[in-house]
Amino acid sequence: MLVNGNPRRTIWPAPDNTAVEIIDESRLPHEFVTVLLENMRDAEHAIRSMQVRGAPLIGVTAAYGVALSMKHHASDAALKATCDMLVKARPTAVNLRWAVEHMREFLLPLPAEQRGEAAWNEAARMADQDVAINYSIGQCGLAIIRAIHDEKQSQGRSGVVNILTHCNAGWLATVDWGTALAPVYAAQAEGIPVHVWVDETRPRNQGASLTAWELAQQGVSHTVIVDNAGGHLMQHGLVDVAIVGTDRVTATGDVCNKIGTYLKALAAFDNGVPFYVAMPVSTLDWTLQDGVKEIPIEERGEEEVTHLSGLCEDGQIRRVQLTPTGSHAANYGFDVTPARLVTGLFTERGLVAANADAIRLGLS
Ligand code: MRU
Repeated sequence: MLVNGNPRRTIWPAPDNTAVEIIDESRLPHEFVTVLLENMRDAEHAIRSMQVRGAPLIGVTAAYGVALSMKHHASDAALKATCDMLVKARPTAVNLRWAVEHMREFLLPLPAEQRGEAAWNEAARMADQDVAINYSIGQCGLAIIRAIHDEKQSQGRSGVVNILTHCNAGWLATVDWGTALAPVYAAQAEGIPVHVWVDETRPRNQGASLTAWELAQQGVSHTVIVDNAGGHLMQHGLVDVAIVGTDRVTATGDVCNKIGTYLKALAAFDNGVPFYVAMPVSTLDWTLQDGVKEIPIEERGEEEVTHLSGLCEDGQIRRVQLTPTGSHAANYGFDVTPARLVTGLFTERGLVAANADAIRLGLS
């Protein structure tokens, strides 16, 4: 997608293929900075510190992390140590485990001297594949947005489709296109008027800082709202459809996504607003049946809740304390939306209902 009018991806090989570059998302929206990842530890740090984030991008960064490691140490023991370390960088997004396991299985049968080049090519292939998958997810969701647009127009209403999204599941969360925002970009390309309600997404504000930034860069109409506004907007008919991304989906269709997604799904259900989840098939965890009981929920440091950073009037970026000194905070990163609240799953294989039978038939 575009940054200052120029097409970019979130991760790309350095010109001499000895490192990869990323956009440092922890610096957006006020600073656009790229960072060189030269070894596996850099990749692990980028994931852990959320310089890169979003389930698909975490997976591709980890794949490159394996490739960077294999350039220097390609023994079985080094492969195991690399994979074991990377997989622990963040706990909830299953794409991380999926990508690392894929790299391990792909590389193990190869002789050590071939692993460096093979791993690099495979990580690059996975990055390209992510782009193609997200494009297909966009086409899947586009059909729903087009149908809403046509129906509104046939009722003599404005044809603008109002979409609510939570967190950032746009191109910044993937290699390109995004998952939840891919249908938005597809609709824009087709000339369908769209407007996005952007949940700020406390505590790290991925909506206010990342989703708003990337939508602005693409020229998509959007409005940032506080996390608690979605229910009110739905009650007043101002949301036509909610579309979110996901970090892990169980074989039964329970959806884990950024904390607060569940409350949006409840409000959508109560107000008859369709609630869709956009996901690559790699986000399915076939081993799990009950999302609430089984999906590991990341708990992060309390300072993400007690403090905020932002651009001050003097042009400096500063961190300030919000809460009284001594008040403790809890910081759960994700929650689980039960399948019964999910209208459907936008996937690269088409629209799939969020239940065990449909998922087995459509995605296995
Ligand atoms: O903590 P983050 O920023 O990695 O959380 C990201 C999300 O919750 C996204 O919605 C999810 O990873 C899907 S990204 C296409």
